Amino acid sequence: MKSIEFRYKETALLPKEQIAETARSLESYIAYCNEVVHSNAYKVPESFINVPSDGALFRAVQKAVEQKRTQSLKYIVVVGIGGSNLGTVALYEALYGKLDAFASNRFPKILFLDTTSASLVRAIEGIIENEVENPDEILVNVISKSGTNTEPLANFETLYQFLCARFGNINKRIVVTTAKKAKLSKLALAKKFTVLTIPEEIGGRYSVFTAVGLFPLLLCGIDGKELVRGAVDMRERCLALDGLDNPAVLSATLLFLHYKKGIIIHNNFFFNPELESVGKWYRQLMAESIGKEKDLAGRTVHKGITPIVSIGSADLHSVAQLYLAGPADKFTYFMYAPSRSKIAVPPKLLFEGLVEGIRGKRHDTIMRAIFDGTKKAYHKRKLPFAEILLPDISPYSLGQYLQLRMMEMMFLGKLLKVNAFDQPNVEEYKAETRKLLTD
Ligand code: PA5
Repeated sequence: MKSIEFRYKETALLPKEQIAETARSLESYIAYCNEVVHSNAYKVPESFINVPSDGALFRAVQKAVEQKRTQSLKYIVVVGIGGSNLGTVALYEALYGKLDAFASNRFPKILFLDTTSASLVRAIEGIIENEVENPDEILVNVISKSGTNTEPLANFETLYQFLCARFGNINKRIVVTTAKKAKLSKLALAKKFTVLTIPEEIGGRYSVFTAVGLFPLLLCGIDGKELVRGAVDMRERCLALDGLDNPAVLSATLLFLHYKKGIIIHNNFFFNPELESVGKWYRQLMAESIGKEKDLAGRTVHKGITPIVSIGSADLHSVAQLYLAGPADKFTYFMYAPSRSKIAVPPKLLFEGLVEGIRGKRHDTIMRAIFDGTKKAYHKRKLPFAEILLPDISPYSLGQYLQLRMMEMMFLGKLLKVNAFDQPNVEEYKAETRKLLTD
């Protein structure tokens, strides 16, 4: 099994000594994280790094999957938002592709009900009306750690009423994933729903390897063992005390040093379109972890790096002009995984002479040329970038990738002296919304 590779060439902007010194400043924190792993417990927010090696947690999820899987299961509806669904969407789309809904021969499929939207609810009800004949063909997984967010609860209440009207008692086909102490947990148990728990200390955006992501992903056939194996292997690399050998520390260091030089946008440029939602998962991870009004000492700082997601090659035809010629305020990571597919342009072209160099070429070869060409253009313009190269798009590689970026974020929070594990200001919109809905 191949490891993912993090590549960065030092530049005049960031000399090697500066990178090494900043990475060194994290040594005691890395040592602390090693202790967190040895404790094998969930006591501090950093304990998310213990999740992928938690055999008991994995077995509990597997047991629930075995209980709920039926021969005829067609649709899993995941009702959740933010950290409660973005990781699952990311992995599902990466592994099954963005057009999975139209590939009729692969079941079960996941339908994601996240934002509050009448048209989305209606569309899912329509699929159920047309394609689901009995309760064994469907399973609803409501995921909310707090159990008090407006969107998942409004969506679930609506869907539950619809399912009861269609099938009668559907309670055996509902799984609720929430914190043990959440009021939702008690209420769900009283209704005889199956309840899976999220460890209290693990924040939503760091919870993809808990039951939050594992239950629906295992249920739809994704190899969860490989996923967590990738995460564990990456964790070992990201606990190395020598920061220059540690991809998470190196990545956090580079993001931090560029930020200090005024490069305040982080562009995640994926050259595999099926990874777009991995970019959206990361967007939440960075935005909520690093965007802070106060630092750890309580001083008002308004820190933050703005994460953006770009897709090669489509976005080269939409935003590359800005990226190459506009303000040099972006630090870009180019991400690429080669494909083994032999799909190629035919050897005999219909339109000879229109585009040179494509005859008989594999699509992957063309994409690789676009990827390398884009990096060359950035290099010529002295625009800062790094590369994350995935050997393939598999559960093992994705497990590594997600773990790398979560650990990077923990180290980046430390360097920026902000709490990477809370999101106090998100509450502001929630409080205003509740007021408007109850007035
Ligand atoms: O990272 C976080 O903690 C948040 O983004 C939450 O995941 C998100 O708000 C969903 O919360 P909950 O699972 O409580 O419904």
